[in-house]
Amino acid sequence: MKLTIESLDHQGRGISHNNGKVVFVEDALTNEEVIVEVIKETSKYIEAKVTQCISKSSLRVKSKCPFYHECGGCHLRHLSYEDTLKFKCDKVENIIEKFAGLKVGICPIKNKNRDFYRNKIEIQVKNGVYGFFKKGTHEVIEVDRCLNALEPINKMLLAMNLLHIVNGKVTIRCNYNGEIILDIITSDKVEVEVEKIRDKVKLVGIVLNGKLLFGADHYIEIVDNLLFKMTYNSFFQVNQFINQELFKIVKNHVDSDSVVLDMCCGVGSLSLVAATKAKKVYGIEIVENSIKDALINSRMNKIENVEFMLGDAYKLISKIDDKINTVLIDPPRNGLTKEAIKSLLKIHPNKIIYISCDPITLGRDLNDLKSDYWIEKFYCLDMFSYTYHVECVCVLNKR
Ligand SMILES: C[S@@+](CC[C@H](N)C(=O)[O-])C[C@H]1O[C@@H](n2cnc3c(N)ncnc32)[C@H](O)[C@@H]1O
Repeated sequence: MKLTIESLDHQGRGISHNNGKVVFVEDALTNEEVIVEVIKETSKYIEAKVTQCISKSSLRVKSKCPFYHECGGCHLRHLSYEDTLKFKCDKVENIIEKFAGLKVGICPIKNKNRDFYRNKIEIQVKNGVYGFFKKGTHEVIEVDRCLNALEPINKMLLAMNLLHIVNGKVTIRCNYNGEIILDIITSDKVEVEVEKIRDKVKLVGIVLNGKLLFGADHYIEIVDNLLFKMTYNSFFQVNQFINQELFKIVKNHVDSDSVVLDMCCGVGSLSLVAATKAKKVYGIEIVENSIKDALINSRMNKIENVEFMLGDAYKLISKIDDKINTVLIDPPRNGLTKEAIKSLLKIHPNKIIYISCDPITLGRDLNDLKSDYWIEKFYCLDMFSYTYHVECVCVLNKR
């Protein structure tokens, strides 16, 4: 089938039409003329891949990653970095207009370390092959180097055979100091060659099926002079360079002497940043390990004007007696529940700083908040370079 690509969808796929059906074409850019092969066809749409590119877009570049066309990890390595950023800002603008009916002016924040930025990757192991899922499948392609991952993680990738796993999953995490923690999930009988791995990387711990196998189950991360104890399975932003930018934004928008609530606070990173300016900060988190780390983190940084609580933020919110004037909210991908929006509107803070890794759920939630709040600032942070994902920060003020 011969097609002309009309535009890009939210996942960076080319969009075209054929016989009344929309066609999504992997690895195709706007205005390109391509011959495609159908991968999947339903009554409404077709998914296809390019077999021949007849006329190439001037925006097309050659991917630096040899695994790019097979691997499902990145989606935009066939665009220049500047164009990936433009794609993300345009996409967010369109989504917010579609879901919230709001036109936003976006302030883009570039990733200065656009390659070698991720502090965490998940390696799949299938029949002894270590790698990533092949695009759109659960087949594993062997990968021994990832351009997104920090260099110590790449060193670890070259030592994976010392784990002797046949089937399973290994999460590799790395801190500011290049220290590595492995979180292994497998039903294999594992005999890890720990000392040989330690010859190659700064291995601080291995956790096997939730139990400590070697060393420690945590390390210390440092961002913007703040220290964070991070247990192997706690949430932490994957890009330390952009995380610093996020810290700056939060600090700029939290008023001195304000009372802040950090809903979904994880290990307390944004709570502690806010506490360096605010009068008082409350942090709520549902994962016990994370809140334990948050408590340690406040002590480690000698920050005393912060109080952490374990539980469901949307229920605990009403238990805080203080008058909250700023809410920091960084929910998981699925955004806020209706119940959460209700409790948020009940306390009606002057300011909401909404941090989101999914512009669609952000747009949906902004639609519910827009009659009470107006948007002061909207940032797109390139937390996940060369993928279609983007981190948004929306600063809302009470009307
Ligand atoms: C995207 S992470 C943000 C963490 C933190 N703000 C940070 O930057 O490190 C979302 C966090 O929300 C927590 N969470 C999810 N649902 C929650 C709920 N109902 N109440 C409190 N925390 C919740 C998750 O465990 C996770 O730590």
